[in-house]
Amino acid sequence: MFKEDLLNGKRILVTGGGTGLGKEMSRYFLKYGAEVLICGRRGEVLEQTANELMEENGGGSVKHFALDIRGPQDVDGAIEEVFQEAPLDGLVNNAAGNFISRTEDLSHRGFDAIASIVFHGTFYVTHSVAKRWLELGHKGSIISILATWVWTGSAFTVPSAMSKSAIHAMTQSLATEWGKTGVRINAIAPGPFPTEGAWARLSPGQDPDKATQDPSYSSNPMGRVGQMEELGNLATFLMSDGCDYLNGQTIAIDGAEYLTGGTFYRALAALGDEEWEAIRSTIKSTNEKDKAKRST
Ligand code: HXC
Repeated sequence: MFKEDLLNGKRILVTGGGTGLGKEMSRYFLKYGAEVLICGRRGEVLEQTANELMEENGGGSVKHFALDIRGPQDVDGAIEEVFQEAPLDGLVNNAAGNFISRTEDLSHRGFDAIASIVFHGTFYVTHSVAKRWLELGHKGSIISILATWVWTGSAFTVPSAMSKSAIHAMTQSLATEWGKTGVRINAIAPGPFPTEGAWARLSPGQDPDKATQDPSYSSNPMGRVGQMEELGNLATFLMSDGCDYLNGQTIAIDGAEYLTGGTFYRALAALGDEEWEAIRSTIKSTNEKDKAKRST
């Protein structure tokens, strides 16, 4: 779709780049010539992904470092080290956390678990990177990965809907505040692009691979889920220099799903106590497995 050297010379950081959508976007940035940096909480997963992507690409550079974006000092320290080596040209705010739950069942720690990653963490990284761009007079492109519920709200994922809506507001606000500086900020709102991490917490018990293969799976007007290449192409386009006038936008890539009305999780309103208990324990066992991986 693009010239192979479209992103040559660009240095792009992808948060949460070890897995899921972050890994997929990194794949395309690398393919189009960028130097990619990925960060996340699990060093081993990042290392595996970096090696896999470089091998698949037959070269190129994917660097990795462990970073929990919930800690503002850790974030600023890591970004300082990155800039000491060379300034970034792009940032993808992809790291996120989410799980479905009845809102009345959430503890304040459950709310904070999502808000501290999506709302606070995304701001910390954006602030840390962009203030350096402004100091250096360096151009930069930021993309945040949001969801279409920034326009519709979303039942049973209220902390995510609130936090991602805040990042949508940040996108609009900073595009106007930094318009003259060469720092652009946009967002992508992907519809269903099945990944292991999101599916385990948002559609527990369902197989993300099956969702990809089954064209009738989605109630989507196009009758299918999204393909990673489609997301990768949009992210690549937003990172490129040809669309500098595109600023402050959140772009849905969802096969027009959210335009059909009701929000995705409304069907969950029919579930009772026992079903919610089962969902909660399935998600918790996923979280425990992930934590065990982080501590190894
Ligand atoms: C109710 C829950 C819960 C659940 C966790 N909690 N899961 N409450 N129902 N299913 C509560 C816990 O009980 C605890 O509160 C609090 O949340 C913190 O839990 P921890 O496991 O200690 O949190 P932590 O280790 O910080 O993990 C963060 C996490 C986890 C968000 C909970 O899921 C995670 O690390 N996720 C990262 C990956 C991820 O979520 N990927 C999906 C992203 S999809 P108490 O009070 O009991 O101590 C996405 C949007 C997709 O972002 C859009 C698609 C259209």
